[in-house]
Amino acid sequence: MILKILALVFYLTIYSEAANILYAIPFTTKSHYITVRTIGLELARRGHNVTVITAYREDKHPPTYHQIMVKDIKIWEALGGERPNIFSTVDMSAVQFHDDILWPGGLALTEDALQTPAVQALLASDVKFDLVISEQFFQEAFYALAYKYNAPLALVTTYGNCMKHNFLTRNPLQLATVPSELLDVDDPTSFIGRLKNLYFTAYELFWWKYWYLGKQEQLMKKYIPGLREPIPSLFEIQKNASLMLVNSHFSVDLSMPYLPNIVEIGGVHITRSNNTLPKDLQKYLDDAKDGFVYVNFGSNVRSIELPEEKKQAFLRVFKRLKRTVVWKWEDDKLEDKPDNVIVRKWLPQKEILAHPNIRIFVSHGGLIGTQEALYNGVPIVGVPIFGDQYNNVLELEQMGYGKLLQYHDITEERMYGLIDEVLNNESYRKTAKEVSRRFWDRPMNALDTAMYWIEYIIRNNGAPYMRSQANELSWLSFTMLDVYIFILFVIISSIIFTIKVIKIINTLLCPRKPKDKKKRS
Ligand SMILES: *[C@@H]1O[C@H](CO)[C@@H](O)[C@H](O)[C@H]1NC(C)=O
Repeated sequence: MILKILALVFYLTIYSEAANILYAIPFTTKSHYITVRTIGLELARRGHNVTVITAYREDKHPPTYHQIMVKDIKIWEALGGERPNIFSTVDMSAVQFHDDILWPGGLALTEDALQTPAVQALLASDVKFDLVISEQFFQEAFYALAYKYNAPLALVTTYGNCMKHNFLTRNPLQLATVPSELLDVDDPTSFIGRLKNLYFTAYELFWWKYWYLGKQEQLMKKYIPGLREPIPSLFEIQKNASLMLVNSHFSVDLSMPYLPNIVEIGGVHITRSNNTLPKDLQKYLDDAKDGFVYVNFGSNVRSIELPEEKKQAFLRVFKRLKRTVVWKWEDDKLEDKPDNVIVRKWLPQKEILAHPNIRIFVSHGGLIGTQEALYNGVPIVGVPIFGDQYNNVLELEQMGYGKLLQYHDITEERMYGLIDEVLNNESYRKTAKEVSRRFWDRPMNALDTAMYWIEYIIRNNGAPYMRSQANELSWLSFTMLDVYIFILFVIISSIIFTIKVIKIINTLLCPRKPKDKKKRS
């Protein structure tokens, strides 16, 4: 009875604090959705009224979870092109990737999502929201919804550290040790690494602030009705964001300073799976007494698009491994498939990574898969293709639970060597287990951490006191340049003054004799 009353009281407290939350995550890349989906679902499970703008429909969800669907248009379709062979993007520089794909694709997808009739209907209705949460990924126009509803804004990234957000909230950039999230540099702290980082960060911030945000503001004005004049800039709106949730954790990513309202929730998408493997697969994996190798390049990168000679290299390596290999191969046939290789068009990744016989994961180094492998303490051989993948694999190689294989280095010898090394050198497995343990060693799990801080900013009306006071300062005061210039001035003037005084004393004490002058000349 007491328990029942307690439960009722608990329910009522939750209920009375239930907020009306708008969760705008329209970006159509599946890995992004997978990363952030648990946040919306969990908020609804806790009794909040969640309205989510998304391209991916959930069939099972709490009753207070309302879905507003946008079309699942892929970024290349939004750009009016065909799906490219993703392997062809491997040589794109970070700048080119932005110029050709992210900037134009971000604008096209934002416009597409905003003009969706269901979204327009919501914006025209008189529903009010207490909080707007959006993904920080090339869709800034959506942040204006926080301004429209006069609600705090929370952001979430699917990757870790976000340079743009650091820059505008005056969180330390730490360019010497923290590479920009989408920049690939082999040795971030070397001179060249730091130079590249400075160059790319400057490029990104300049184009973003002076060009991209302007374009997003045009979309904002065109599609979001009811914005009170004078409408602040999107730079200003994001600067006033109450919270930023980043998908990283210092135990496995870089250790860097964060303001109190930038919170690490690395691994937020990971939940223990209750699903079982399909029967046939379960049997194969159970029977793999020497362990098995799991190969999957994620949802964007397709193995069938591998060039022939690289595909042959894969097949020869797998044959030589002489143990079970499970490969996500997106076609019905695979010629010359060795007997020890099992292929499937789709594989239940969570369950496979949790199987006790797994020995290594050959992947593209996407953050989701990397964190899932880490969760289970599985070493990785990573072949990065684009985006943040290079940095993810570089980090895990430096930590010692995997190896980086450059796409252009995929040859039988090189690949066999690396896989064999990771399979047979116990240290990779041991390190993977150790890093896995410390990834989970936290006061609160990732999802609860996200919930705590989201509810915190609701409770505290956006908690503006968490922002850095540096935001109030002019650029000159913030950089301390005025003080440095003053000190420089004092030092230089005292040197000049001292020299002058010495000269005067000198002339007073020993007046020049004509004789000396002669000697010198
Ligand atoms: C929950 O959100 C929907 C919009 O998706 C709105 O129509 C409804 O009135 C909200 N419910 C409450 C109790 O605020």
